Amino acid sequence: MSGFSELRLDGVGRRFSGKDALADLDLTIRAGEFIALLGPSGCGKSTALNCLAGLLPLTSGSIWQDETRVDVLPPEKRGFGMVFQSYALFPHMSVRRNVAFGLQMRRLPKAEVARRTAEAIRLVQLDAHADKLPGQLSGGQQQRVAIARAVVLEPSLVLMDEPLSNLDAKLRLEMRTEIRRLHQSLGLTTVYVTHDQEEALSLADRLVVLRDGRVQQVGTPEDLHARPVNWHVADFMGFRNMLPLTAAQASGEDVVLEGEGLRLTGTAVGPLSAGADVVAAVRPEDVRVAAGEGANLIAATVEVVEYQGRELAVEVRTDRGRPLHVRTDQRLAPGDAVTLTVDPHRLLAYPLAPGEQVPAPLAAAEAVPS
Ligand SMILES: Nc1ncnc2c1ncn2[C@@H]1O[C@H](COP(=O)(O)OP(=O)(O)OP(=O)(O)O)[C@@H](O)[C@H]1O
Ligand SMILES: [Mg+2]
Repeated sequence: MSGFSELRLDGVGRRFSGKDALADLDLTIRAGEFIALLGPSGCGKSTALNCLAGLLPLTSGSIWQDETRVDVLPPEKRGFGMVFQSYALFPHMSVRRNVAFGLQMRRLPKAEVARRTAEAIRLVQLDAHADKLPGQLSGGQQQRVAIARAVVLEPSLVLMDEPLSNLDAKLRLEMRTEIRRLHQSLGLTTVYVTHDQEEALSLADRLVVLRDGRVQQVGTPEDLHARPVNWHVADFMGFRNMLPLTAAQASGEDVVLEGEGLRLTGTAVGPLSAGADVVAAVRPEDVRVAAGEGANLIAATVEVVEYQGRELAVEVRTDRGRPLHVRTDQRLAPGDAVTLTVDPHRLLAYPLAPGEQVPAPLAAAEAVPS
């Protein structure tokens, strides 16, 4: 099903009324890879996918499938499969006819159409529903029809734009596994758009994080999870605590950070010099409730406690009034005085560009849905 060894995006850009929706996208996708395009709303994910699909002409750059330039080809000549956020099934056709449609359009022999259709339906485990209409299926089943319809054509590349966003939490998890299973068993090459970092981390071999139309970082889930390249990516990857501090000392990766009544040792990501304004980022699960002595301590008071099964999601406020998010298995209650600590390797220090402001987190009390 591959037919190519790599797909190369070379300086791909797309503008809308003079504004870059996507700029300078360089990316080489190897056959068999699962790539996630990740980023907040409006960052250019769908634009990138539509440029790949041929639904949007490029304003700059080129796309190559091995030695063949494909961005000049119409969508149907590229042979890519597409799964949209809305299932876009034909409502008056049975599951079987929906899946067979693309093969029939290609005027393949009847027996081959029947065989490939049945196989695709079996792959997405809809045999029992093959003769139903889409309206008689659940959201997850309809989504599986949409996927079968794309993969039955044996596309060299499958493009998926937030295919799970219409599903409830449980179905999303099930379909996530399903999509990864199909990717592996069919040997597909997949580009998958999502704004859900957890979905991207769990599915993809490599992630491409976009912000304002520009690539921020390309890497494996491990790379992205452990070491975001800048604080915007860190913010997006679940580093919910961001402290504006100053680098008091810096030697290599080791930095001492001061401000807000705190003195903390952290790890610099990229070059940092003493005196620099810094954003210190840490995940809620890396802030621990300490016994009250040792290094890297933060004194705080518990404000809001959310029960989350084995752990509690706790919002505390430091003595200087900054809210922090903590995950802990300790049974804390509002009003408790706590001492927190952070492993220096988990406290990442990023330079703050001149004029840049760390977004002020919601105060704990304001964060409670009213
Ligand atoms: N047809 C269009 N005309 C004008 N501007 C557009 C058009 N399509 C997208 N844009 C703009 O380009 C930018 C990127 O849009 P895009 O749809 O790629 O974002 P996205 O990352 O897919 O966001 P979301 O997660 O909300 O789907 C946005 O600022 C958007 O307003
Ligand atoms: Mg989109």
